[in-house]
Amino acid sequence: MRVPHPAPPPAKVRDTFLVFGQPLIQEAEIAEVADSMRKAWLGTGPKVSQFERDFAAYKGVSQAVALNSCTAALHLSLLALDLKPGDEVVTTPLTFCATVNSILHAGGIPVLADVDAKTMNLDPEEVRRKMGPRVRAILPVHFAGRACDMDALLAIASEWGAAVVEDCAHAIETEYKGRKAGTLGAFGCFSFYSTKNVVTGEGGMVLARDAEHADRIRVLGLHGMSRDAWKRFSDQGFKHYDVVEAGFKYNMMDLQAAIGIHQLSRVESGWKRREEIWNRYQEAFAELPIGLPAPVEPETRHAYHLYTVLVDESRAGISRDRFLDAMTAEKIGVGVHYRSVPEHPYYQRTQRWRPADYSRAYCIGQQTVSLPLSPRLSDSDVEDVISAVRRIVQ
Ligand SMILES: Cc1ncc(COP(=O)(O)O)c(C=O)c1O
Repeated sequence: MRVPHPAPPPAKVRDTFLVFGQPLIQEAEIAEVADSMRKAWLGTGPKVSQFERDFAAYKGVSQAVALNSCTAALHLSLLALDLKPGDEVVTTPLTFCATVNSILHAGGIPVLADVDAKTMNLDPEEVRRKMGPRVRAILPVHFAGRACDMDALLAIASEWGAAVVEDCAHAIETEYKGRKAGTLGAFGCFSFYSTKNVVTGEGGMVLARDAEHADRIRVLGLHGMSRDAWKRFSDQGFKHYDVVEAGFKYNMMDLQAAIGIHQLSRVESGWKRREEIWNRYQEAFAELPIGLPAPVEPETRHAYHLYTVLVDESRAGISRDRFLDAMTAEKIGVGVHYRSVPEHPYYQRTQRWRPADYSRAYCIGQQTVSLPLSPRLSDSDVEDVISAVRRIVQ
């Protein structure tokens, strides 16, 4: 008698929606925030100083300046370079708009160089083609947490006397040839936005190689008031301050640092879990007709911030945007990092950028999807993501 082949189990959709990029918040940070509330010291204070010390120690540098976002960190780093009208900053078209906006707000002219199709990072050869006497800085983004080709970028920058400002929004744990991301250029700018590998809700940090730059950023981040003006209400008596520049309101609050201190203390265990999930996805999707992240380059450490796949309709049988909708219907939250910068109308109008001129970034931007990747995910969440992707593209 023939035994009938069992029918495949019916597709099972999750009961609850899996929110993309949700951070893992634990009791230690909840208690630390409550402590700030009880002490009623909410603004910049001792917890911000501790978070700065802890972050500097993690990166092996002598000081770090906490701010309220990576956007602020990028803006102030570029201001510290004293860009003059007409000065250019070369960056990537495959980034969040904040990278480019910070150049504009610092008075620079953003110049785009296309990415490498595999690494999705700035292609040094493209950067070289965009260099000239007006370029004051190169602003690489360690995309998704993958280290840029820093030897090549630093060499080009030094040939032209330009600074390197690293956008490390995705790259807290990233390393390049034994050196930590954010310590290779003149400035390293980090984000602690709610989806990042260390979160403070909103928040940022700058590492500046030059102590004078760090001091200037500290002053510019708090209205241009002289150093340590936040201490003016402390128990050491009222302290007068001088305004030495027209600065910005970019300071981090103790309420934010309270979260960050404990998040940072768990960054390495979070990284291990991210790596585990990443490897599980790589193995599970190996046979599917979608593009997967390239292997991690030797002598580098990937921060595993984003796990991105490429959905090319001609291979996958479904368009990227329909894939996004199908994942949402499966109750799996997804992201797009990013449609290329020249696709946005503001830049087309003001910079005259055309997406086709940065064809690799454009192509990635049309096909990319970020899948959930966070230490908050349980094994069964990860398997739900895998089953949903398989159902949609197989
Ligand atoms: C590459 C990149 N740069 C800069 C930023 C800005 O970070 P923030 O939101 O902390 O200002 C982000 C935020 O997502 C980013 O992804």
